[in-house]
Amino acid sequence: MSAIPAKNRKLISWVDEIVKLCRPKAVHWCDGSQKEYDGLCSQMVGSGTFIKLNEEKRPGCFLARSHESDVARVEDRTYICSRNKEDAGPTNNWADPVEMKAKLKAFFKGSMEGRTLYVIPFSMGPLGSPVAKIGIEITDSPYVVANMRIMTRMGREVLDALGENGDFVPCLHSVGAPLKPGQKDVPWPCVPDPKNKYIVHFPEEGAIWSFGSGYGGNALLGKKCLALRIASVLARNEGWMAEHMLILALTSPQGKKYYICAAFPSACGKTNLAMMQPAIPGWTLRCLGDDIAWIRVGEDGRLYAINPEYGFFGVAPGTSRKSNPNALATVTKNSIFTNVALTPDGDIWWEDMGVPVPAKAIDWQGNEWTPECGRKAAHPNSRFTAPAGQCPVIDPEWENPKGVPISAFLFGGRRPSTIPLANEAFNWEHGVFMGAAAGSETTMAALGKAGVLRRDPFAMLPFCGYHMGDYLAHWISMADRTDRKKLPKVFFVNWFRKDASGKWLWPGYGENSRVLKWICERVEGTGRAVKTAIGNLPAPDALDVSGLGMSEADINELLEVDVEGWKRELADTEEFYSKFGNRFPEALKKELEGLKGRLEKA
Ligand code: GTP
Ligand code: SPV
Ligand code: MN
Repeated sequence: MSAIPAKNRKLISWVDEIVKLCRPKAVHWCDGSQKEYDGLCSQMVGSGTFIKLNEEKRPGCFLARSHESDVARVEDRTYICSRNKEDAGPTNNWADPVEMKAKLKAFFKGSMEGRTLYVIPFSMGPLGSPVAKIGIEITDSPYVVANMRIMTRMGREVLDALGENGDFVPCLHSVGAPLKPGQKDVPWPCVPDPKNKYIVHFPEEGAIWSFGSGYGGNALLGKKCLALRIASVLARNEGWMAEHMLILALTSPQGKKYYICAAFPSACGKTNLAMMQPAIPGWTLRCLGDDIAWIRVGEDGRLYAINPEYGFFGVAPGTSRKSNPNALATVTKNSIFTNVALTPDGDIWWEDMGVPVPAKAIDWQGNEWTPECGRKAAHPNSRFTAPAGQCPVIDPEWENPKGVPISAFLFGGRRPSTIPLANEAFNWEHGVFMGAAAGSETTMAALGKAGVLRRDPFAMLPFCGYHMGDYLAHWISMADRTDRKKLPKVFFVNWFRKDASGKWLWPGYGENSRVLKWICERVEGTGRAVKTAIGNLPAPDALDVSGLGMSEADINELLEVDVEGWKRELADTEEFYSKFGNRFPEALKKELEGLKGRLEKA
């Protein structure tokens, strides 16, 4: 073992403690270098975890296939272990922190035997920025190390920034698959029994313990665990916001730039909107982030957003040259693909990629696949991991440590009926009510049943590290932290309306720029709207639908107020809110009553 490169006392003693607990065969402190990354990738090719893709077609790219039990986030195995149960709230799983630690210690005991323990120093946010947070992930998965190098700013510089006494979020991860002497490893070690996977957060201590899964947000602990669940608690305490939001910049033909943040639940279109190619002429879009935004009040009183991440962990299926050309361009090199199909020429493929369907392929489970076989070649939650800097439309401001000033917040989800294409809130409180009432059909991004409607306030249901009622109150309180005229305007959008035959009513993707254009015009004060019971909807002709060839009936359906549907919506929302008891903010009760009254009269 080489000399420990860290000077931080807390770090050195923590690593020492975990080494004694997990008993790895070796310890590796990651320096974040290309050499180290290349070495780990070759090692994983040797062990069967990685398949090297065709160097001419996909330079520097690898394919990984996970275990069939380990394909998405596991929400029912995710815990917020605050001291008081009440502080985790009714929407989180809770366990007593002392009991949970004791239980997990038994799991972690010897869990890294026969494996290397990697120490990953990483920064969420530009290194050295006052906004950034340092985390240290300890893991026994080289796959996690490689992905963390793409998703975060990782390596030696982070240890230097930490210094002797700097603070960090300790993130402990093990795939939970120790190797006995001589035992052969498998390509994707993990704990196959879902009941023995644990994604655990200790919000008061600011620590994360994850056991048994190697996939995505379960294992890349900088992302959902640190940058959302732990950060949301810090944000509440320190007066800022940690949100499940993309950040984009839209520039008008007049050259005015608008920054927009949008919160949609998992697999509901953030990556696609974040780097979309506007279908309308004259408007340009730039991307700053596709999943997480940290937002603070700036010196001028406006809200400023930064993307704490360094890469994209995006849904592969459906990503095509037509729907998201910029994502495809981003993953042409230096990317990791997990659970997509392998083509005979050593490239990757997934459903709806917009290229000819291969006559045969190897599917995500490693089996022979043909278009006729009736199975999907790629898992619906298969993903790419790619450096954000490779995105052809990355915004020059994306690493600005101060962030960018936000003009509008968007909320949305998959809603086949009732919810119109676009709707503007009357004011901040009404906007917070819209975000709080958000819901979506569930998707394959989390294990469980897909396609059932669930309330998902601010797309944060699986990611809020404290009581959701307090979180809603925190949103309301932003109006007291600055001049409310400087707050972003709030909108609700829905790209996912379906007609009677189950087809999408709205073309989506690049055509969503038409809605963004109306939103910018509203921000500017020029866009026209009609005041309705549910909010300000685009006035007839205010939405640019030229050249779409849509019927007037379809457009009307997308923009109508379905009063009976909204009454059902309201009843469902009210029932959901009843869970929050006395932590449900008074201001939102008022909004609920206000909407009820307006719908009665509508
Ligand atoms: P996470 O990474 O899980 O947080 O997901 P995300 O919110 O970034 O979702 P993403 O952009 O990856 O989209 C998920 C799925 O929704 C993909 O299969 C897309 O093809 C589909 N999708 C995205 N935008 C649209 C749209 O405007 N219309 C329709 N019909 N589908 C869309
Ligand atoms: C999500 O599920 O919202 C994701 C993917 O962004 S994961 O990183 O696995 O959480
Ligand atoms: Mn996400």
